[in-house]
Amino acid sequence: MERAKTYRKPGVTERLWLGLEKVLNLLTTSAYNPFYYLGAISIFFLWIIFITGIYLFVFYSISAAGAYNSVQYLTVNQWYLGGVIRSLHRYASGGLVIAALTHGLRHYVLDRYKHWRWVSWVTGIGMVLVIIVGGIFGYALVWDQRAQFIAISLSKMIESVPVFGMPMSISFARIENLADQVFYLLLAVHFFAIIAVTVLVMIHLGRVAKSVINPPKVMAYGLVAVLFLLSFLRPAVSSGPANLKALPQAMPFDWLYMFMFPLMRYMTEHELWLFIVALVLIVSIIPWLTAEKKNPEVQVTKENCTGCELCREDCPYGAIQMIKRTDGMPYELEAVVVNKRCASCGICMGACDYKALNLPDLTEDALKAEIERLSTELAGAQGKKVVVFNCAKGAWPDGVLEAGGRVKGFDWARIVTLQCIGMLQPSMLSIPFENGIDGVFISGCRMGDCSFRSGNEWLVGRINGYRTPVVKKSLDRSRIGTAWLSAVEKDAMLKELGQFHKNLK
Ligand code: HEM
Ligand code: SF4
Ligand code: SF4
Repeated sequence: MERAKTYRKPGVTERLWLGLEKVLNLLTTSAYNPFYYLGAISIFFLWIIFITGIYLFVFYSISAAGAYNSVQYLTVNQWYLGGVIRSLHRYASGGLVIAALTHGLRHYVLDRYKHWRWVSWVTGIGMVLVIIVGGIFGYALVWDQRAQFIAISLSKMIESVPVFGMPMSISFARIENLADQVFYLLLAVHFFAIIAVTVLVMIHLGRVAKSVINPPKVMAYGLVAVLFLLSFLRPAVSSGPANLKALPQAMPFDWLYMFMFPLMRYMTEHELWLFIVALVLIVSIIPWLTAEKKNPEVQVTKENCTGCELCREDCPYGAIQMIKRTDGMPYELEAVVVNKRCASCGICMGACDYKALNLPDLTEDALKAEIERLSTELAGAQGKKVVVFNCAKGAWPDGVLEAGGRVKGFDWARIVTLQCIGMLQPSMLSIPFENGIDGVFISGCRMGDCSFRSGNEWLVGRINGYRTPVVKKSLDRSRIGTAWLSAVEKDAMLKELGQFHKNLK
């Protein structure tokens, strides 16, 4: 069986995850599947936290004596506005942790976290840490029983690190020492968290070209509606005021932000620190611990490059830079590849009309020769014939794909495998037709979930004539079929292929 180097049979967890998304796609369609927008949803929650936070800050009294009452005023006296805003702030913060963790886990399960993606991975972990610290300090600001519990637990942990010494414990231990400065400190850390997350988001997306940072409008309205609903059904409230003369009493517990404190019952402070540091370190270096050999990066044939910039425009990871021409050719610019950013997806090959880009393990000439060979071989067969361009990351005809691109039960088809469907350069699409083939079927990842972020979208743009280089107008579009499906949807892909063949004139 012929397989592209990038084809990797999805593992059990990956199949389960994609299976869940497949079910959700039936309800939402790919265009509105929340799993495809988890990063954008996280950013949306950050906006809500930021905006509602400004309102809360205006009313907040930065003092030991006034903090609790100022929050109570919003919650009780101004329940219709301040109370709702407090609840939105709280629930958006919960939503943020859930969305960010699910987004990170999804990247792990779907194997989208190594090599060129390491910066996003590591900064993602940094963001989760900062968000949790910021949230804990936010809870402390309310200065209720829960805040007291947090303050005591946190100061125990901080004191156990030699650098921090004694002052914090003195402040929290005796009410007469609880200085207003402590509240300035809590607020400063809470604010700093937002600034740090903003900077980290920028680094997170630094290598992700044209990143999707907003969820679709309908989804955004839906999220706001859910937050409002929660705010009315279960408004965020404080527990009793902090009383440092007594131990904190029963209080509502937020597992998303406070999960580490119960561990203090089973571990010393030092053991807890060790546990947290080890966990963060291990999760951060997972991309290197599990990395397999990377496919070779794309190479530029300088003498063919006209400096048209289409490759830079289409590269999903900003791996192509345009520099001033160095070889005296009559063009202003030339393309260069930043190897460490290159995903070896071949999308830039699909954008280049001048044979200036080649993946060493699948050059444009070799790919065109393969398409031609399979097409001419198939052209002699009886009946309608179809050449299939199949993405190695999408629905893969596992188990039925045979040597020479043949598919069991589909004698009229031959499959050409690409690293990413975005690699399909328009002139490649013409080859089967020029060689007597009746139809071309294109199969790639679900729209909105291309493994290389935008390959399928760019190709659709080329076929529909709004993205350069465009597919020739003279090609009969009714002879081009498409299926956008995930790696667990092989049967659906084969069914659609069969249907396309049946309907082909
Ligand atoms: C506040 C938290 C986070 C926000 C706001 C956020 C936001 C985003 C956004 C908007 C994207 C671009 C999506 C696209 O256009 O395809 C992205 C990509 C990415 N994120 Fe996050 N993220 C967060 C947390 C995390 C975490 C916790 C991890 C993992 C530890 C993570 C790992 C990644 C990776 C690996 C990518 C690259 C995707 C690719 O190359 O296809 N992110 N993130
Ligand atoms: S698309 Fe091709 S010709 Fe255009 S800049 Fe890139 S490498 Fe050069
Ligand atoms: S192979 Fe993919 S990641 Fe590498 S330069 Fe080309 S488009 Fe960018």
